[in-house]
Amino acid sequence: MSLVLKNLYHTYQPNTPNESHALKNINLTINDGDFIGIIGHTGSGKSTLIQHLNGLLKPSKGQVLVDGVDINQTKGVHLKEIRLRVGIVFQYPEHQLFEETVAKDIAFGPKNLGLNEKEIVKRVKEAMQIVQLDYNTLKNISPFELSGGQKRRVAIAGVLAMKPKYLILDEPTAGLDPKGREEILTQIQMLQKELKLTVVLVSHSMDDVARFADHMVVMKKGEIVLSGKPKEVFGHYEELEQLGVGVPTVTKLMRQLRMRGLDVLTDIITIEEAKNEILRVWQTGGQKNA
Ligand SMILES: Nc1ncnc2c1ncn2[C@@H]1O[C@H](COP(=O)(O)OP(=O)(O)O)[C@@H](O)[C@H]1O
Ligand SMILES: [Mg+2]
Repeated sequence: MSLVLKNLYHTYQPNTPNESHALKNINLTINDGDFIGIIGHTGSGKSTLIQHLNGLLKPSKGQVLVDGVDINQTKGVHLKEIRLRVGIVFQYPEHQLFEETVAKDIAFGPKNLGLNEKEIVKRVKEAMQIVQLDYNTLKNISPFELSGGQKRRVAIAGVLAMKPKYLILDEPTAGLDPKGREEILTQIQMLQKELKLTVVLVSHSMDDVARFADHMVVMKKGEIVLSGKPKEVFGHYEELEQLGVGVPTVTKLMRQLRMRGLDVLTDIITIEEAKNEILRVWQTGGQKNA
């Protein structure tokens, strides 16, 4: 089972002076269990792309297949059902919190599904547990009294309470402090590893994509220009610098160490790998031309 975008184009405001070709010939397959990172400069089309995955936006041309079904062309497709399967956490989702209590906010989706009260409470509790918000202390609090990171987690819990199979997150750590970022990212990773959700993470942070994604795509002006395992993609150092997205901090560090004469490998993308490689060179005395 998978999410597939086939020769997908999206044009905003076609045939007007403001026409904008936001997506051009996108081909992308997201398989069950994947953790995919999408990166690219602001305006490169990331948010437009993900909104096609659950039918919020319609392609100008091309297809969106959700578990084999063309959601825009097949008769009898209920987009409501597709949106249950494909959950999207939008950028700054806390702006959409509106209920008077945390529990009511998370319950909003399940309630709309027409679930009974007992099932709704069960789902709210489960979702809060996943994002590590304590149900008993927070259920009756206004979401507006929470910290930025907590609000973000309430918003994510609201999507999880719908029990999606695919979880799409548009820059979920934007604007959070390092602790809040770390908490959210490790929770997302847990969702993929333990609950077997398929995750699509739109991110500005190369460090985060390097750490968590199994596969990544790089977008530029509406097109996918690089795609592959993070290690392969981050090997295109110059291209990524030119695109203004760059590479993980440790990849930069390793390249600089090498330029200064230390004989380290430079296809390093995480801190753990960098530590092991520096220790290896240290222990074998591998200086090239000190
Ligand atoms: N609602 C809209 N109407 C017109 N143009 C839009 C709209 N949303 C996005 N765009 C344009 O489409 C392009 C891609 O935007 P977007 O998908 O938001 O990129 P990203 O998420 O990578 O920053 C940009 O040029 C943007 O200005
Ligand atoms: Mg965006």
